[in-house]
Amino acid sequence: MTATPLPTIPAAPVDSVFLRDVIRGLGAGHKSLPCKYFYDAVGSRLFDRICALEEYYPTRAELDLLTLHGTEIADVAGPGVTLVEYGSGSSVKTGLLLDRFREPAVYVPVDISREHLLASAHRLARRYPDLPVLPVCADFTGPFELPVEAGTGRRVVYFSGSTIGNFSPGEAVRLLAGMARLAGPEGGLLIALDLKKDRAILEPAYNDRLGVTATFNLNLLARINRELRANFALDRFRHLAVYNEECGRIEMLLISLEAQRVRVGGRTFSFEAGETICTEHSHKYSPTDVHALAGKAGLNVRHFWTDSRGLFSVAWMSRAE
Ligand SMILES: C[S@@+](CC[C@H](N)C(=O)[O-])C[C@H]1O[C@@H](n2cnc3c(N)ncnc32)[C@H](O)[C@@H]1O
Repeated sequence: MTATPLPTIPAAPVDSVFLRDVIRGLGAGHKSLPCKYFYDAVGSRLFDRICALEEYYPTRAELDLLTLHGTEIADVAGPGVTLVEYGSGSSVKTGLLLDRFREPAVYVPVDISREHLLASAHRLARRYPDLPVLPVCADFTGPFELPVEAGTGRRVVYFSGSTIGNFSPGEAVRLLAGMARLAGPEGGLLIALDLKKDRAILEPAYNDRLGVTATFNLNLLARINRELRANFALDRFRHLAVYNEECGRIEMLLISLEAQRVRVGGRTFSFEAGETICTEHSHKYSPTDVHALAGKAGLNVRHFWTDSRGLFSVAWMSRAE
């Protein structure tokens, strides 16, 4: 008896935008990769583990800040708002806001990491059964639509986790201006920004002893292998995060441990020993920097809160008159 041939299963389609961005980044004089690609399902889970690390102060500081000032933030936001969150992740901090906001009308978490977004949205919908939770899977650096069910009420755009720090100052201004358009003339922006501080606190936060941040960083290469049929050898790269004081930012790097060649999407990229791929910037701000950033986006900082240790801030911004 002849065996029936198994049907050929086509390989998963390659995401052409992801491929284009990776080829562009690795082909540049100073190699880099866009940090938004950290967040596949594995990367999002790893980020949650980072948030629980002893050295990673930003999450605890933002939670502390929202616990301290949440009632005042809720008063500023007002009743019945539509809360739109950019880069919502696990929406853990959002719970602290929703507990204090008066009768929020709708919650719209916006995130690029589909599986993680849907799981978080379901969790939140179970916790707040009377609140419509309308997840939007989108890249917030491009145009996206809010669901019609989000309604036309007063909007508050929340950008948590100091994710704004991942953008260059010019990109951050454009993002804020886009958020202000989404919020409308009556709305407001609640923007979390990490504050400038000693490198003795900053660098350990991104170079933890357990190596979770290293795994998170290397997962970007693993993801490129999985999705773009590349052949990065993960043990030939090392994670390092350094604080660039002049630019006021943490630079997250992958360092090639030897001279090597890597194939991605039919192209070959050469690495020298010690050559780096920059995978993320995380800009830190002084209070003056925050005001200047808002001003360039046509916004005013109306309120500025910090946590009890003065490590982290949340600013309420609205259109300048
Ligand atoms: C640093 S994490 C912060 C998560 C969460 N807001 C918190 O504070 O714990 C960044 C989040 O933004 C999402 N993200 C990053 N870049 C994005 C983009 N361009 N568009 C949409 N979501 C993005 C990631 O998937 C991730 O959930």
